[in-house]
Amino acid sequence: MGKVFVCDHPLIQHKLTYIRDKSTTTKDFRELVDEVATLMAYEITREIPLQKVQVQTPVATAECRTISGRMLGLIPILRAGLGMVDGILKLVPAAKVGHIGLYRDPQTLEPVEYYAKLPTDVQERELIVIDPMLATGGSANAAIEALKRRNCSQIKLMCLIAAPEGVQAVQQAHPDVDLYVAAIDDYLDDHGYIIPGLGDAGDRLFGTK
Ligand code: PRP
Ligand code: URA
Repeated sequence: MGKVFVCDHPLIQHKLTYIRDKSTTTKDFRELVDEVATLMAYEITREIPLQKVQVQTPVATAECRTISGRMLGLIPILRAGLGMVDGILKLVPAAKVGHIGLYRDPQTLEPVEYYAKLPTDVQERELIVIDPMLATGGSANAAIEALKRRNCSQIKLMCLIAAPEGVQAVQQAHPDVDLYVAAIDDYLDDHGYIIPGLGDAGDRLFGTK
C-alpha cells in the first residue's frame, strides 16, 4: 500500500488557507500555489539518496555528501499541474519536465487524455506526478498508468488537496506510489468537487472563470 504523507508544516498550512479563500485574486492564488509547491518539494525530496564525496575547503579536506541515484522528472497533469512546476524547479532545477494532458469529462467525470510529451529517458528517472487536486483519483491514476505503459517504475504523486475517495482510488490502483498532500478534505460532492476544497484549481490559476 502506498504511503500518504500530509505535509502539515505551518507555512504550508498558512498559505493553503489563503489558497482556499474565494476572495484570493488570481495573481495571489498563483503565487501561493507556487510557494506551497516549493515547500512540498522540500518534503518530497527528503529521502533522495546521498553519496559521500570529499572537497577541499580553503583549510582542509571535508567529508561531504551530494545527491546520487536517479535524476528527477516532474510530470504535471495539464492544466492545473503547471501551476506547481516552477515552485518545485526552484529546488531541483535540473529536473526534466514531461506533460500529460487530461481533462475530466463533466458528465462521466472520467479522465480524457489529449496530450503526452515526456523526456526521452523518462523510464530512468524518479518521477513526481503533480496535480493540485486529487478528487475521484481518475486523472492521477490515468497519468500514472500512462507512465507505467512507458515502463516507468519509480513514481510519487504530489497534490495540494485530496479527497478521501481519491486517496483510496490511487492506493488501490497503484500501491507502489506514495502520495504527498497538503490536506485531505472531507468528501466529494455530486459534481466531483472536493469539499471544502478550493474550487476549480485550473480556473483559479489561469483566471478562466
Ligand atoms: C482537475 C484537476 C485534476 C482533476 C482531478 O482538472 O486539476 O486534474 O480535475 O479530478 P479527478 O481526481 O476526479 O480526476 P480538470 O479536469 O478540471 O482540468 P484542468 O486542469 O484543465 O482545469
Ligand atoms: N478538480 C478541481 O479543480 N477541483 C475539485 O474540487 C475537483 C476536481
